[in-house]
Amino acid sequence: MQLEFALLNEGSCIQGFDCGEAELNSYLTDLALLFQRRRFGVTVTFFEKSDPDKKVIGFYTLCPACIQQDSLPEKLLTGPKPNPIPAFRICRLAVDKCFQGKGIGQIIFVHALKKCLDQASQIGGSVIVIDAKDEKAKTFYERFGFISIPNNPLILIQTIKYVQLHFS
Ligand SMILES: CC(C)(COP(=O)(O)OP(=O)(O)OC[C@H]1O[C@@H](n2cnc3c(N)ncnc32)[C@H](O)[C@@H]1OP(=O)(O)O)[C@@H](O)C(=O)NCCC(=O)NCCS
Repeated sequence: MQLEFALLNEGSCIQGFDCGEAELNSYLTDLALLFQRRRFGVTVTFFEKSDPDKKVIGFYTLCPACIQQDSLPEKLLTGPKPNPIPAFRICRLAVDKCFQGKGIGQIIFVHALKKCLDQASQIGGSVIVIDAKDEKAKTFYERFGFISIPNNPLILIQTIKYVQLHFS
């Protein structure tokens, strides 16, 4: 299956998106565009290249963030660093139920990581932070080398340096 992507916009075909999580579904259909207009985050949508309706089958939302030094596992970022540390946050990510288990989540996630890399080279930012919805989502991100911060297992992080080494 060939995927295309586009920034969420008024014309995006998002009605009926169902990833199996009501909160994530209604975020996409009711809030994401409003949030984007207010610059709370940018949502990138994915659809099948061959689909004339361009029905959205997956998305992620990214925004700038910062993380306190003491939230970082010691070994992750050595040497002098500012506090807080400039970062990117992957706030939400989901794939429609009909398309789960086909590698699309992985494609979308790597796309988000590369977008962070690109932005980091333009404006700085040395850590990627992810909010995992639950334990299951956490294991999805752990597969890509992300690790929980010391005091909150559902917040995962990894350095831009790591992402550059493994995903570019
Ligand atoms: C989590 C989610 C994005 C995964 O998307 P997907 O398209 O089904 O994932 P993929 O097919 O690309 O799977 C990639 C790898 O992650 C694994 N994986 C998939 N879903 C997983 C999950 N929920 N937990 C742990 N691992 C998972 C797959 O087994 C696969 O590993 P493999 O290549 O070794 O087989 C999707 O199930 C989803 O949208 N779930 C509901 C919303 C959600 O939980 N979002 C997470 C962000 S909070």
